[in-house]
Amino acid sequence: MVTKKVLLRMERIDKKFPGVHALNQIDLDLYAGEVHILLGENGAGKSTLMKILSGSLERDSGNIWIDGKEVGDLDPEHSKSLGIGMVYQELSLCPNLSVAENIFLGNLPKTKIGAVDWEKLNKMAKESLVSLNVSIDPRMLVRNLEVAEQQLTEIARVINRQSKILLLDEPTSALSDAERDRLFELIRLLQSKGVGIIYISHRLNEIKMIGTRVTVMRDGKVVDTIPVEKTDENQLIQKMVGRKLNEQYPKIHTKIGDKILEIKNLSSENKFKNVNFQLHSGEILGIFGLMGAGQTELARSIFGLDSKMSGEVLIDGCVLTKHNPNDSIRHGLGMLTRDRREGLVPMLEVPQNVTLAIRSQESFGQIIKLRTEKEFANKFVNSLQINPPIINRKVVFFSGGNQQKIILSRWLCCESKVLIFDEPTRGIDVAGKADVFRLMSQLANEGIGIVMISSEIPEIIAMADRILVMRRGEIVTEFQQSVTQEDLLCAASEF
Ligand SMILES: Nc1ncnc2c1ncn2[C@@H]1O[C@H](COP(=O)(O)OP(=O)(O)OP(=O)(O)O)[C@@H](O)[C@H]1O
Ligand SMILES: [Mg+2]
Repeated sequence: MVTKKVLLRMERIDKKFPGVHALNQIDLDLYAGEVHILLGENGAGKSTLMKILSGSLERDSGNIWIDGKEVGDLDPEHSKSLGIGMVYQELSLCPNLSVAENIFLGNLPKTKIGAVDWEKLNKMAKESLVSLNVSIDPRMLVRNLEVAEQQLTEIARVINRQSKILLLDEPTSALSDAERDRLFELIRLLQSKGVGIIYISHRLNEIKMIGTRVTVMRDGKVVDTIPVEKTDENQLIQKMVGRKLNEQYPKIHTKIGDKILEIKNLSSENKFKNVNFQLHSGEILGIFGLMGAGQTELARSIFGLDSKMSGEVLIDGCVLTKHNPNDSIRHGLGMLTRDRREGLVPMLEVPQNVTLAIRSQESFGQIIKLRTEKEFANKFVNSLQINPPIINRKVVFFSGGNQQKIILSRWLCCESKVLIFDEPTRGIDVAGKADVFRLMSQLANEGIGIVMISSEIPEIIAMADRILVMRRGEIVTEFQQSVTQEDLLCAASEF
């Protein structure tokens, strides 16, 4: 139920970073009980605006009212005390604490003598995870969780605080459809209690599912605020990117060549078993599964990030024996992991990040020239439209989607024969996705074999030549390109 009670009003919010006018006189308001979608290209300023509300960034100027009362400077504690809760895009959990400790951090239940009441803590954490339909052991250390599980833990933590204003910055970017649906149920429940939610996502289909109003931002400015029922995806894309988008999935139909990667009887305890498949030069092979089906673990093992496995990985007929990433890269295998934070070196600038994988291919004494490094960086800044197009900038200062493009570039400039992409377009805006797919198509056309893991069904169907479906750690079906969304989901589900 949406009432017209204004929970939050922001007026003329302004924020500059060196060289970037991130927020330029932003006005935005939020009603009690509404889900206000914030939409915009990578780097438009969405996260910056939310961080100002959560107190983790200071605004240069502008006014904020909550419940009609003007609030002055916001720091994280003040923001929390005003009832604002935020799920960050680049999650903010403490990796060395347990799931339960993270959920109740700052509010741990105590025994009579003042020690942490672990039993009660774990029980409370379990309950809040169950309300999200999540079966994570609350005693697990966060660093041992998959990204999706971390995302769910972070959501549980914020929902637990009973905030009246909830800021969700791409909360579903790592979730499966089923987990997203469960989150949406919870959001609807909160809405009915009058909580106001600002929701950021690059998944346009979610707008109609959950949104009340949508505000489109471009280059740090608000373009428009519209009730969801008065707009559609095409109009929103146009407002967002300032032009019509020609093709969402630029797939080139390539001649499929010889076998280039072969996986033989690959098993890893509790994660996947007896996996066999082949990939050919020029082929894009999709792997689809619900969360926990083993696709990410399989990919990581193939690349050598997890050495506890049995079976064989062959590239061009040559068996990889060492099972470590450096050796894989030397044999021409590259991998973009699901969690981009794993691969980026935040305090290095773009060129060094882009050429990191080439460095591990170097033989001793051979050093990449600074000039070549910059050339690579500039090439991808152009072809993937990395924004702002400034290469001598530490990657930590780029927006989430632009960081994803930077790490993707690393594998595009490497001379790989086989590339494994785990959720390549995570956090990338709609125009950027088309750029990524265009590059993937070009790579395949040049003879590279690509394994593409994606939970976005339309993109995997449009881009893959063949799709393997995984369920409970096993490959259960193989589809050719003509598969429908329903067939894929059905094959991946447990019923
Ligand atoms: N700490 C920072 N220092 C310098 N520049 C920054 C910093 N944080 C963000 N920026 C810049 O501000 C602009 C807005 O970034 P922001 O993270 O708000 O974008 P976004 O809309 O959330 O994008 P995405 O969809 O990719 O997450 C970008 O140009 C970004 O590079
Ligand atoms: Mg962002």
